[in-house]
Amino acid sequence: MHTITLIPGDGIGPEVIEATRRVLEATGVSIAWDVRHAGEAVMAQEGTPLPQAVLDAIKKNRVALKGPITTPVGHGFRSVNVALRKELDLYANLRPCKSYPGVPARYTDVDLVVVRENTEDLYAGVEHMVGEDAAESIKIITRRGSERIVRFAFEFALREGRRKVTAVHKANIMKCTDGLFLSVARHVAAQYPSIEFEDMIVDAMCMKLVQSPHQYDVLVMPNLYGDIISDLCSGLVGGLGMAPGANIGEGIAVFEPVHGSAPRRAGQNMANPTATMLSGILMLKYIGETEAALRMEQAIAAVLRDGKAVTYDLGGTATTSGFADAVIERLT
Ligand code: NAI
Repeated sequence: MHTITLIPGDGIGPEVIEATRRVLEATGVSIAWDVRHAGEAVMAQEGTPLPQAVLDAIKKNRVALKGPITTPVGHGFRSVNVALRKELDLYANLRPCKSYPGVPARYTDVDLVVVRENTEDLYAGVEHMVGEDAAESIKIITRRGSERIVRFAFEFALREGRRKVTAVHKANIMKCTDGLFLSVARHVAAQYPSIEFEDMIVDAMCMKLVQSPHQYDVLVMPNLYGDIISDLCSGLVGGLGMAPGANIGEGIAVFEPVHGSAPRRAGQNMANPTATMLSGILMLKYIGETEAALRMEQAIAAVLRDGKAVTYDLGGTATTSGFADAVIERLT
């Protein structure tokens, strides 16, 4: 029996999480869910969008499955998602992007993984106004932060039998911060001679990913580039409804889709739960349930290939729960 923290989130979160929970249970893996709430509604009741009890529950269970949580833009509380990653030191954000037959997309043969640093960079949100008419944000890159994320990318590549790691940066302009990231990446790469290594400037990377994504395998980069590039990559394989994610630290992990809470679609049973289900598969692998993970992926792939029970974003008319029903029917 695995005890796993379940955070439904808000917007479309509760719907995609419920669909995923049902499929995970249908695999036969024994899971006790420790359901915890965070976000805007909790803020109204408890004065904080991320109560300490939620953090404590994740720390205790060591594994969580999470739906997206809305962040107010330009004002209000800081992102719960960013706070969670920082508080639990979930330094590695793993975002696989894979083509599935049947899913309308520009390419049919993409299989790459974005490894995004999750705790530093401009994303740390260290910013302030300078008087009324200027603002400053501080980009923080450390040797330790860079070393552990690049090492994570190489260890992941070794474990998963992948052939190449590409470090993405803008070291030609940001010579100190991205320069440090790149020099650490080169140093770590030298310790993994069996894996090909290259580096690429982030703007050129965007162009090459759009033109020929199959050239790439594992991409490792600082936080902000990872945020942007991973959405670009999801667009190569059918959009945000297809992009899973994992936030991983030392012996602790939170699994969540790349997409946000899509407030306009909330409560309509419309959202594509595939990204959350694929995040659930990453979770099954993480807790050692590899056989169930494989069966669940095969069932999802079969439903996508059929194309009869897919959601609006993939050109279908199925509901979120209808997609889950179809996947459960296909589970062997
Ligand atoms: P979003 O990812 O929620 O939506 C972007 C577009 O993709 C929308 O058109 C939406 O309808 C569509 N979309 C997203 N997920 C979908 C799905 N599963 N099925 C079908 N269509 C889907 O991004 P947006 O609008 O920028 O952010 C909305 C809120 O979510 C914001 O408050 C943001 O801060 C938050 N957010 C939370 C994240 C998290 O909890 N990890 C990650 C990203 C954003």
